[in-house]
Amino acid sequence: MSGSPNFTGKVVLITGASSGIGRATAVAFGRAGAKVVLGDLNEEAAATASQIKAAGGEALFVKTDVSQPASVEALVQAAVGAHGRLDVAFNNAGLLPRTADLADMTTEDFDRTIAVDLRGVFLCLKYEIRQMLSNGGGAIVNTASVAGLVADPGMAPYVAAKHGVVGLTKAAALDYATRNIRVNAVAPGLVATPMTERWLADPAFKGKLLQNSPIGRAAQPEEIAGTVLYLSSDAASFVTGQTYVIDGGQTAH
Ligand SMILES: NC(=O)c1ccc[n+]([C@@H]2O[C@H](COP(=O)([O-])OP(=O)(O)OC[C@H]3O[C@@H](n4cnc5c(N)ncnc54)[C@H](O)[C@@H]3O)[C@@H](O)[C@H]2O)c1
Repeated sequence: MSGSPNFTGKVVLITGASSGIGRATAVAFGRAGAKVVLGDLNEEAAATASQIKAAGGEALFVKTDVSQPASVEALVQAAVGAHGRLDVAFNNAGLLPRTADLADMTTEDFDRTIAVDLRGVFLCLKYEIRQMLSNGGGAIVNTASVAGLVADPGMAPYVAAKHGVVGLTKAAALDYATRNIRVNAVAPGLVATPMTERWLADPAFKGKLLQNSPIGRAAQPEEIAGTVLYLSSDAASFVTGQTYVIDGGQTAH
């Protein structure tokens, strides 16, 4: 990609990289010269690492459950063990609860969604920031969602978790603004990934999802990756605590 930032020699940690937005972003970082470390519960993320290596890049897969502190700490330690430092992190792992109105939502669905989508981001921030403080700074991007800014029906735990990610992003940005660590978020609208595959395969439901979309289509994961690379780069050196909306204009009206 001409004009995209250069991450040669930078150590970049990415969670949720077995598919979708995480995989596309990992490939983009690999292409931009980064040493990429992928944390995912799904062993398919090893295929993302292979894809990056096949293209001449450097990548390491570490099986990780972002909801578990010891697992996240081990992921950061693996990155430092392999490369000696951590420059950039993209905290992107996430899942959707089953769709239900709030009173019909199970407590288990609520707890699991919060554990992965919100606590997971907290844990990643905690261990990444500790490392970044010891290596002179870094840049972090969290994956929120337009569901972190406005509500979607039938998804209360996800909406709560993603609003929480927007808040965590601001809080972490303030805590470390003078210590050379920037923390931002991306808020994608509808993106064509395994998470939304079922919705997009149903023409009636797809039409309903896109009826408020000015651009009139779902994004491809690569269309999110570009903003993540920008926010992680020195071109965004004065940007922190922000949530960048990438939604084809959905929240413009
Ligand atoms: N697809 C969309 O329309 C959309 C819109 C807004 C935000 N998002 C967010 O983007 C992020 C990526 O989702 P995607 O659309 O690429 O879907 P995806 O299902 O392709 O990717 C989710 C990734 O998270 C991983 N993951 C799930 N639980 C995990 C855990 N406990 N520990 C480690 N990894 C785990 C999965 O294995 C997978 O690699 C998520 O945070 C999602 O909420 C997606």
